[in-house]
Order: sequence, then structure tokens, then C-alpha cells
Amino acid sequence: MRNPTAFLKKEYKELKDKGIDWELWVLIGASKSHCNIGGKKVIMLCSNNYLNLSNHPKVIEAAINALKTHGAGSGSVRAIAGSMDLHFELEKTIARFKRTEAALYYQTGFAVNAGLIPQLIGKEDAVISDELNHGSIIDGVRLTRTERYVYAHNDMGELEKVIKEADSKGARRILVITDGVFSMDGDIAHADVIVKLAAEYGAMTYIDDAHGEGTIGPDGRGIGAHFGIEGKIDVEMGTFSKAYGVVGGLAAGSKDLVRFAFNKSRTWLLSGSAPPPTVAACKAALEVLETEPEHVLKLWENTNYFKKELISLGFDTGNSQTPIIPAMCGESHKARALSKRLYNMGIFALPIVFPMVARDKARIRCQMNTGLTREDLDTALNAFEKGGKELGII
Ligand SMILES: Cc1ncc(COP(=O)(O)O)c(C=O)c1O
Repeated sequence: MRNPTAFLKKEYKELKDKGIDWELWVLIGASKSHCNIGGKKVIMLCSNNYLNLSNHPKVIEAAINALKTHGAGSGSVRAIAGSMDLHFELEKTIARFKRTEAALYYQTGFAVNAGLIPQLIGKEDAVISDELNHGSIIDGVRLTRTERYVYAHNDMGELEKVIKEADSKGARRILVITDGVFSMDGDIAHADVIVKLAAEYGAMTYIDDAHGEGTIGPDGRGIGAHFGIEGKIDVEMGTFSKAYGVVGGLAAGSKDLVRFAFNKSRTWLLSGSAPPPTVAACKAALEVLETEPEHVLKLWENTNYFKKELISLGFDTGNSQTPIIPAMCGESHKARALSKRLYNMGIFALPIVFPMVARDKARIRCQMNTGLTREDLDTALNAFEKGGKELGII
């Protein structure tokens, strides 16, 4: 007789035996630079809440007010009765911040990639993707029957070669898609070159700037602002779950794009709209960025100091150009052991190991935060030095 659920235990055990299962940590209280994780007070070095906006008084106040005026939920999907004034106000604010004609807010960034990519391309088209693109892009592409081309990470020579190939094969549409800031290495896509090449061959550009928004470019306006190519990226995709400190996804671009996207993205059309406190908090977070430039400046002050000191301790930080700073450890067991030692010394920084990165490229991925003081950073650096020496990493 078939046991219909036996695979649940078996497959979990396989993950556990390979050491690639997830254990969940409890974050007790708010996500801040000093947190309580699993009952222990720690300095947080692996949160996406780069600017600490989730705790900003204006963001909190906006969420509370919206809860009082608009309630806890929207009551519907956007397309039926769930498009509140708050959603439209947020979308206007996104477009103003990103300097695009229009913008659309989704429930999550994942919902943008899973909902919009499959509508932009189909069977007669070609999609050209960086080999290190985020899983949500990969899943969005999987939902299409489009011919796929993958180019070596950030290799613009290879990108041009594959655009030419797709073009010569007579693709109806060509979509070039990349992360803006790569989440494991913290390096930046050559968006200026991508936009130029795409224009030469009549290709569309789609940049997932999840880790770039709020961190790079003037006032944290993201990859378009960083390269001075605002308005030239066909689809600027982003998320509110990282530097903006809330949750939600965005697609910014032309009015044509936005009308197309909300008529066709199934994740947007068929899923309840985000609740009022969330939407109001997202808008307030953008307004904070527009009026308080000190947050992004502080993030970079911390980033530059921490990276310089980590390198002078002997750590390899790879190609990091952003507040994502990997401390390379080599084999997975070393990264895991270092993470454990760091936790024991009051530093929370998780290991990134195979299969998320290559087998010999396991690392501790550090993410900077505006709430970290110089003293916090020095405490963390001392712990890295101690743990790194004990394990023979430095
Ligand atoms: C590059 C990238 N794209 C998309 C997402 C998904 O964003 P969200 O958390 O809003 O679903 C993430 C989050 O992990 C990401 O890092």
C-alpha cells in the first residue's frame, strides 16, 4: 500500500544529511541593529533592513494612522474592490522617487518576477539572463516557454554575443534580465552597458534592483540613478522588503508598462492587495528617503569602514561594491563554524554555503546597517578576527 506522505520525512532527511536544511531562528522583538535572536542579545549583521527604516518613527506612525483610518485589510484583489486610495498614492510616490512615468505596487518582489516576466515574453522570444540572477527571476523565466540564453556573470562581451545570436535567430522579442546588485557577492550589474547594448539590438531591459534600492545611487534611488540612466531601463523592478524596511514589490517604467502589467500579471490580479498599514508604511519609507539623506550616507560610512577593516584583517571580500560584504571562508564547514563562533560572541551573521554558492566559495555574508555604531563594528571585527584565526581562514 502506498504511503502518500512518506516523502515528507524522507526528503527532509536527505536535506539534513547533506547539511542544506534550514533551521529557523526566532527574532524576539523588532529587527534592529541590536536584536534578540534565539534568546541571546546580538549585533545584527545579516538583515536586509539596511537603513533601519522599519523602525523609523514616521514609518511606524504612518502604519498606525492607516490602520485606524483604513482598517487591517483591503477586502479584495486590486482589480475588484481592493485598490484603495493608499495604493494609488504609494504608486505615485514610487514613480516620483524612481523618476519614471508610472509604477505598480505588488504584494511582494517575488510576485513581480513570477507575475510579470511570463507576460513579457513567450514562445517566439528570447530571454537573456546573468548566470547569478536571483531565484525569483529564474522561476519567472521558468513560467515561460521562451528560449533561454545565460551569460557568464557580468560578462558584457558574452552578453553581446548572445544578444546577436538571439537576434540572428529571429526572436520576436528579446528580454535582457539581471539583478542590479547581486545578493551573494554585493557587486553591481553593468546596467549602463546593458542598456546601451539592448538599445542597439532592440532588446527590452529588466533590472531587479532588490538590493540596490535604498542603497546605491543618489538618495538611494537605485541602479538607474547610480548610472545616470533613469527612465532608460524598460522595467525597474524592486522590493520594499529590504532597504525600505517593509514588504511589497514594485515595477516602475512607462505608463504603457504599468497598464500592461496590471492587466496581465496573474500574481497581481489573483491575489489580495496589500493591507493599509503596509502600504502607508511603504510610502512613508520613500518619503523619508526623499527628505533625510543622512540614512544612505551613514550606511556608506559603515560599509566603507567595515569592508576596509575586514580586508586589513586578511579576509577576502570578493567583488563587493555595496553594503553586502561577503567574508570568504572556503569550504562550507568553515563558514558554518565561523558563524557559530560569531553567534557565541554576540554577532549574528549566517553562512552562505553550497548550493547557494560554489562549493569552495562558502562565506559569511555581512550586510551593513545604519544603526550600527563604530563600537558595534569594532566588536564585530574583533569577533571575525578571533574566529577567523582559530579556523585558519585568515
Ligand atoms: C534579487 C531579489 N529579487 C527579488 C527578491 C524577492 O523580493 P521579496 O522579498 O519582495 O519577495 C529578493 C529577495 O530575496 C531578491 O534578493
